[in-house]
Amino acid sequence: MDRADSSDKKPKFYLTTPIYYANSRPHVGSAYTTIVCDVIARYKRMCGYDVAYLTGTDEHGVNIERAAEKAEITPQELVDKNEKIFRDLWKLLGITTTDFIRTTSDEHARAVQTLVRRTIERDQNLPPEKRALYKAKYEGRYCIYDNLYVSDTPEPADCPTCGRPAELISEENYFFKLSAYQQKLLELYETKPDFVQPDFRMNEVKSFVEAGLKDVSISRKTIKWGIPWPDDPEHVFYVWYDALTSYLSGIGYGEGADGEANPNFKKYWPADLHMIGKEIIRFHAVYWPAFLMAAGLRLPNQVFAHGWLLFEQEKMSKSKGNVAYPEPIVKVLGNDALRYYLLREVVFGQDGNFSRDSLITRYNADLANGLGNLASRILTMIASYCGSAIPNAPEVPPRLEELVSAPHLKAIRSGYDGFAFSEVLTSVWKLVEATDKYIVEEKPWSLAQNPSESDRLGRVLYAAAESLRMITVLAHPVIPDATLKIWGQLGQPGKLADVRIDQLTWGGLRPGTKVGKPQAVFPRADKIQAWERMESMEQEIRNPKPVEPVSSRSGSATSAAPATDGKITIEDFAKIDLRVGQVTSAERVQGADKLLKLVVDIGDEVRQVLAGIALAYAPEDLIGRKVVIVANLAPRKMRGLESNGMLLAASAGADGLPVLCTFAEDIPPGAKVK
Ligand code: MSP
Repeated sequence: MDRADSSDKKPKFYLTTPIYYANSRPHVGSAYTTIVCDVIARYKRMCGYDVAYLTGTDEHGVNIERAAEKAEITPQELVDKNEKIFRDLWKLLGITTTDFIRTTSDEHARAVQTLVRRTIERDQNLPPEKRALYKAKYEGRYCIYDNLYVSDTPEPADCPTCGRPAELISEENYFFKLSAYQQKLLELYETKPDFVQPDFRMNEVKSFVEAGLKDVSISRKTIKWGIPWPDDPEHVFYVWYDALTSYLSGIGYGEGADGEANPNFKKYWPADLHMIGKEIIRFHAVYWPAFLMAAGLRLPNQVFAHGWLLFEQEKMSKSKGNVAYPEPIVKVLGNDALRYYLLREVVFGQDGNFSRDSLITRYNADLANGLGNLASRILTMIASYCGSAIPNAPEVPPRLEELVSAPHLKAIRSGYDGFAFSEVLTSVWKLVEATDKYIVEEKPWSLAQNPSESDRLGRVLYAAAESLRMITVLAHPVIPDATLKIWGQLGQPGKLADVRIDQLTWGGLRPGTKVGKPQAVFPRADKIQAWERMESMEQEIRNPKPVEPVSSRSGSATSAAPATDGKITIEDFAKIDLRVGQVTSAERVQGADKLLKLVVDIGDEVRQVLAGIALAYAPEDLIGRKVVIVANLAPRKMRGLESNGMLLAASAGADGLPVLCTFAEDIPPGAKVK
């Protein structure tokens, strides 16, 4: 997206996400930081800021080299492929970044080298022991998966993040004299107490710095895949110096002798906010300000470290294999569903759980039954009772007064300003609920029957629609797609993204405005179906179908089927929809000794199933029994009757009589068997 016209006088706000490792595709955990930043960027624009919003991909390092090796492609091919997946996902999620940086780009390499040159030049008149950069032997343990120095001694050590044994590194490196910055960093934390947020993170950072800092190695000789050190190309930059500099290169640093010639850089640097996950706080709150001090560049305003999204009790992470992907969620429930869920469910700053179940529950409760239902009710009533025109009665009813008052709106904005997203949404949804209650109490459908109540009907529907307009503005940063639709349906002029959230007051809805046709913005989701659709899309992402060789597509006789040894893949198995069913009626099929005609409740529907179990079971014994049914078997006819599904049974004993599969526990009909 474009930044604001540079000629306007808006205050600037520059925020960044971390740049993501391009060794694999993003999961919901990695999308989290980007979604949160997008909400902030949209909110800041609605407060009148000219926002620069940067994200990008971290494309150097051993883990990229290794992933490429494994995939039998070059590192460049790997990062090109993954970078595209990131970009496509950001598009799908409606992310409004203004800039995207790749660490393999020429601009970025130039910026990293310029930053180092600038640091060296600043120090050239100092004695060697006082300089920020020097060359020395490095020996230590390093986790290649998390790109983390685990210890600065050669003894074996495990990575504190992933728990795997760290590798021994021994070579000559360039070092950054971090130890010389202890005092300056402590002064920074003292004079700028909100440099690191939340506060408890600031305390962690301070204690870490107070305990004394060791110099850090910022180059590698063993690694090839990186930016060469200026005038010493045997060395490449170690990932963190390289990666952190993306916050500069992403907005144009690196031009001119001091690197600061680009007008874009002049305008937006320093960053107002670096949003990061908690595990990379030291790099951002200790290394990064020290690197910038050494180069004589201004420091960012704030580093905010959020918690982790947990999935199955652990940090969602590709290396642990416990990931959920955003694309299936967006395709099944829409972009807003994921954004709303993540911001509403997790107390921002702390760890929070992700679960598909609670995602669908929240979607149905807050979005489909909540806002979606409210919008469609209001718009339908205005269409039916007011000829699709907003009535003329702009006063605030007592029921809504407090929730649309200036202090309440200010509290919502303070919530956004302090990144208390869950509280913001709770407050906005209080207005959704109150508006709903107001409609129920006032019963516009009854008022509409009585011509003498037409003024009151107008007052009620104006208030409901105006409240909806305010909700739309307040929730827009979080659920941009649905709010845009409601905005259009309310017949509102101009771009919703340009509406000033900080100037929102009651009465903005003009009487007489024609409303559009009501359309469902959040269709209700069937829990099982939604879950299963997501699951099967996830499977496709996890196990992409191999591209069919051309010879087999053209039907060549030489193409051989893959050897299966009689085994099926997990995708093959995932195609079978097995569900718990409950038999509600059973009878014999005339003229067929073995066949029973059953009616089986499978949760969201009731099926007729024919089963060859009459020799083993009397129909009356089956009523109420829980069975397992193959629910997606194509219907077939037996003895002129349709069978829609199949029961699972073992063939047991010498006479091979069927024994139905069942459960010892009480399972509800419809539950999926996996
Ligand atoms: N490349 C480095 C950052 C360099 S920034 C100059 C990196 N990349 S990462 O891909 O591993 O992580 C990027 C961001 O995604 C981090 O903020 C990280 O916290 C976030 N997340 C990755 N998994 C996450 C969760 N499960 N939950 C929340 N955020 C998580 O670190």
